[in-house]
Amino acid sequence: MLIAGNWKSNCDLVMGKNLASSIVKSIKGQTLNCQIAIFPPFTCLNSVSNILKNSRISLGAQDCSEYNGGAYTGEVSAGMLLDVGCKYVIVGHSERRIKHGETSKQVRIKTLNVFNSNLKPIVCVGETEKDRDLGKENDIVKKQITSSIPIDAGAKSLSNLIIAYEPVWAIGSGLTPTINEIERMFKEIKKNLKLHLKEKYVDDIKILYGGSVNKKNSNEILSLKEVDGALIGGASLNAAEFSSICLEIYNKE
Ligand code: PGA
Repeated sequence: MLIAGNWKSNCDLVMGKNLASSIVKSIKGQTLNCQIAIFPPFTCLNSVSNILKNSRISLGAQDCSEYNGGAYTGEVSAGMLLDVGCKYVIVGHSERRIKHGETSKQVRIKTLNVFNSNLKPIVCVGETEKDRDLGKENDIVKKQITSSIPIDAGAKSLSNLIIAYEPVWAIGSGLTPTINEIERMFKEIKKNLKLHLKEKYVDDIKILYGGSVNKKNSNEILSLKEVDGALIGGASLNAAEFSSICLEIYNKE
């Protein structure tokens, strides 16, 4: 079980350091049945990395470059993220796919770079409201999976793959799919991963749910057998709420 907090483009350095310190403090000495990772903006990574040292919380970045370094002004490579202490990188978040026109091909290259830097990618997939209204959610998610995951990455890398199913219409809206809809989509994703990866390593691949997860709905969503964790946006900016979601997780194993 992995609980990931995506801070998005929020927090200046003081806020970021305070938020990370409060989460570390809240879980210190408590029983934990999950892994926790937080994803601050690039500018906070180094400071938060120092705060997380000797804690049970890992660091992640919200994106990385398609390039491994060189004359690419403004780009941050996967290797640089490893250097600053990251363990995870979110790739292909819908806000990047939609607001920055990121294609699945770019997501695939980024995912490969993340693997090659010995980091774990969290590859995001999910349908828009329009796709859902047209009943196309399965097709869209299948297409995103097959075109965003580099099947040639090798067994060792692919076993580190994490998928986040985040319906675009559920992000930041307070809306979530029903429990049955989540269960159905997760089975579908597993089936597509098996087809795409030819059964290999699929059982090692974690699938997270994301989109308006909060303290009120987290228990129900996370207790589904198929769900291996959550990618949390808004609620991860509140140390008390985020920590209590992490601490309330019971052991599914
Ligand atoms: P949300 O965001 O929890 O605020 O809906 C989730 C995400 O975008 O990862």
